[in-house]
Amino acid sequence: MAIIRKVGVVGAGQMGAGIVQVFAEAEYDVVVVDASEPTLQKAVESIDKRLASRVEKGTLAAEQKENIMGRIRTTSKLEELAECDLIEEAIPEDLELKKDLFAKLDRICKSETIFGTNTSGLSVTDMAAAVKRGDRLLGMHFHNPAPVMKLLELVRTIVTSEETIDAMKAFGVTLGKTVVVAPDVGGFIVTRLFTPFLLGAVSMLEEGIATKEEIDVSMRMAVNHPMGPLEVVDFIGLDTELSIAETLYEETKDPKYAPPLLLRKMVTAGWLGRKSGKGFYDYTK
Ligand SMILES: NC(=O)c1ccc[n+]([C@@H]2O[C@H](COP(=O)([O-])OP(=O)(O)OC[C@H]3O[C@@H](n4cnc5c(N)ncnc54)[C@H](O)[C@@H]3O)[C@@H](O)[C@H]2O)c1
Repeated sequence: MAIIRKVGVVGAGQMGAGIVQVFAEAEYDVVVVDASEPTLQKAVESIDKRLASRVEKGTLAAEQKENIMGRIRTTSKLEELAECDLIEEAIPEDLELKKDLFAKLDRICKSETIFGTNTSGLSVTDMAAAVKRGDRLLGMHFHNPAPVMKLLELVRTIVTSEETIDAMKAFGVTLGKTVVVAPDVGGFIVTRLFTPFLLGAVSMLEEGIATKEEIDVSMRMAVNHPMGPLEVVDFIGLDTELSIAETLYEETKDPKYAPPLLLRKMVTAGWLGRKSGKGFYDYTK
């Protein structure tokens, strides 16, 4: 079975930064690549800040924190991933972008390297078709925030080898995650089930049935969700949510996945949620 020692992460945004932390905490050496230098800096700072707060609370030793931070290396060059045993991508939810990235990595990386995608619902099979090592490419869907959420959803395409799935199941356990294996259908298990609920909340707001606060407080108080659905969409990113809905609707033609017009308009306006400072709620204050 493939032995994983050194891991690469491409994309250091919301998900990438959390995934880097998960890998480094599990004692893997991590090389992280992002197209934007300030994003790399911000990712490292955010990991440092989260670990520092655990040191303050006494749940992590200062020395452990330094060891975790010492395992993380940032770069803007994909070539520095050549010797990684596993590469997880967390770049935006755009199939062409991801296919292009994997085709480049396929040329750069040693032949044994396994490729994982953090896509929320794009076709993993399409990504496998963009590389020569389709048997060593799979979905590795972490949930947000990656250091907190315990599920790792692996996605198996018809070309993923059993050996790759077994190696990644074992790897997921070393990260302290509960691993499930889903088929490569739009949205896999989690996103396929959760998306109609989130879109329903946006439609309810759009139709004027309830205010955003009423919708969110109702789900928090009645179903014990830690966040209301509109707060969740702000947290995920409205652009990401729109892209997920479009992919699912395209594949299934099921109206429960049709993106509400309000979501589309908010994305056009640049209201992307927490990451842009404004979504259903205002985060600028
Ligand atoms: N946001 C969520 O809640 C969530 C949850 C689970 C999965 N996902 C999935 O994870 C992936 C990333 O989502 P995110 O919310 O972290 O996005 P994000 O926009 O926060 O981060 C994407 C990062 O990728 C970088 N990037 C773009 N193109 C690049 C390239 N070619 N090479 C290197 N870096 C590049 C950008 O600079 C940015 O920092 C998406 O596929 C998304 O669907 C998101």
